[in-house]
Amino acid sequence: MNTLIIFGASGDLTSRKLIPSLYRLFVKGRLPQPFVIVGFSRTAKTDTEWQSELRATTKQFAAKSFDSSQWDKFAAMIHYHIGDIGSPESFTSLETRLRELESGESNRLYYLSTAPKFYEQTIQQLGKAGMATESPTDSATASRRVVIEKPFGIDLQSAQKLNESIHHVFTENQIYRIDHYLGKETVNNILVLRFANTIFEPIWNRNYIDHIQITANEEVTVGHRAAFYETAGVLRDMFQNHLLQILTFVTMEAPSRFDAKAVRDEKVKVLQAIRPMSPDQIQRDTLRGQYRSYRDEEGVAKGSRTATFAAMKLQIDNWRWKDVPIFLRSGKAMGCRTTQILVQFRRPPHSMFGADNAAHDANQLLLQIQPAEGIQIHFQTKVPDTEMRMRMTELKFSFQNSFSGEMPEAYERLLLDALQGDASLFARSDEVEAAWTIIDPIQTKWEQDKKDPELYETGSWGPPVSNDWIQKHERQWFDMCPLIGH
Ligand SMILES: NC(=O)c1ccc[n+]([C@@H]2O[C@H](COP(=O)([O-])OP(=O)(O)OC[C@H]3O[C@@H](n4cnc5c(N)ncnc54)[C@H](OP(=O)(O)O)[C@@H]3O)[C@@H](O)[C@H]2O)c1
Repeated sequence: MNTLIIFGASGDLTSRKLIPSLYRLFVKGRLPQPFVIVGFSRTAKTDTEWQSELRATTKQFAAKSFDSSQWDKFAAMIHYHIGDIGSPESFTSLETRLRELESGESNRLYYLSTAPKFYEQTIQQLGKAGMATESPTDSATASRRVVIEKPFGIDLQSAQKLNESIHHVFTENQIYRIDHYLGKETVNNILVLRFANTIFEPIWNRNYIDHIQITANEEVTVGHRAAFYETAGVLRDMFQNHLLQILTFVTMEAPSRFDAKAVRDEKVKVLQAIRPMSPDQIQRDTLRGQYRSYRDEEGVAKGSRTATFAAMKLQIDNWRWKDVPIFLRSGKAMGCRTTQILVQFRRPPHSMFGADNAAHDANQLLLQIQPAEGIQIHFQTKVPDTEMRMRMTELKFSFQNSFSGEMPEAYERLLLDALQGDASLFARSDEVEAAWTIIDPIQTKWEQDKKDPELYETGSWGPPVSNDWIQKHERQWFDMCPLIGH
């Protein structure tokens, strides 16, 4: 038997992502059975009231797969428990309720979908109530796992402290630190593209690759998240987790097998190979921006210096990537929503096609992660009916066109992996700390500088100076809104 306990049951993530993903897994017959979901939060409501709220939200967020009779069967598994994370009695009563719902030993997955300030306390309460201990039965060991949402700490020190505190209650292999980008099909496909084909890996190095750009742009502004965003900013919100996670998939060495230890060992190695930046390098190799109307948002301080856009150049000190700049950039209030990886290859060493064609563009490989998911290869082709003119053309692959059915939501894959005990796509403690080691000095320097970020217009590609900045690094941004459609 399997039990999923969601702390933060009445929250946004639960209704928008977790329950719709669990419902889809149920419809696909993938949820291990028997299965029980127990929501935990302070707001008073009955099982039936919560079920009917979730019916409405799931109908909205899983519209394509929503079916009333399937929902009724799924809803029968859903229960609600009123409780306060600060109260030990709430955990005692939760344990009693769980025992009533579970027939004998059950594998439990605790999902912390609460504000980060509650992570530590929830885990300590679980520990004190004896709810974290894995107990052997005759046939198997009933597991006790915990999924922790992002952000994991606000800097290296807080992440280390959180890790230490959690490790008093759960061992590392019981802990699943989630980054939903790792549940996306295209991110997983980076590993398949690189390591299940023979044509890419031989050229995936400094001999053929000029540089790499990883861009994660959002169209939305901070909206109602201003209180959170003011203390986080774009580095903590996007770089420490999503962008560095994608970077590891693009640049790591081949693990010997696809299992949690082998994959995460390689990811940590590449994070540790990223060259630490001195204050002068931070000045030169990073850029921060803020969209013009940010300071007018409700909840934002009048003179706020919080960056809503950042770009940085990282160097990986190993044989494969020596002197290949990796550019990361992300911003809010941008012209289009896109997450993409551009692998820019070198120019051919010599052009035999004359002066006109000498400076032609080099090959590019584009991995589009969202909104639509796909891959493009850009290469030169002869323009027909000309002597020997060339033009960049592309080979295009789109998941939507090549595979039938709806693309799964990232949370589906990750919830299922956590339920099955596969931690390959979750961050390990040393990985999270290695990522903070890269981001911390930049955040600290920016805070010490007391410089206003460069302003940019809503709907642009960030501060205009961003183009000069990358030109100083002798490269150009690939400013393309999604090239692959649904
Ligand atoms: N929303 C997203 O799209 C998203 C995306 C990525 C990551 N995350 C992360 O996911 C987590 C949850 O985010 P969210 O947007 O769902 O937050 P939220 O909407 O603010 O929900 C917070 C939940 O915590 C409960 N809660 C607050 N204090 C409590 C207490 N003392 N005891 C028990 N329950 C308590 C609230 O319910 P009551 O008031 O009823 O107690 C509510 O259910 C955060 O860590 C966030 O960073 C969210």
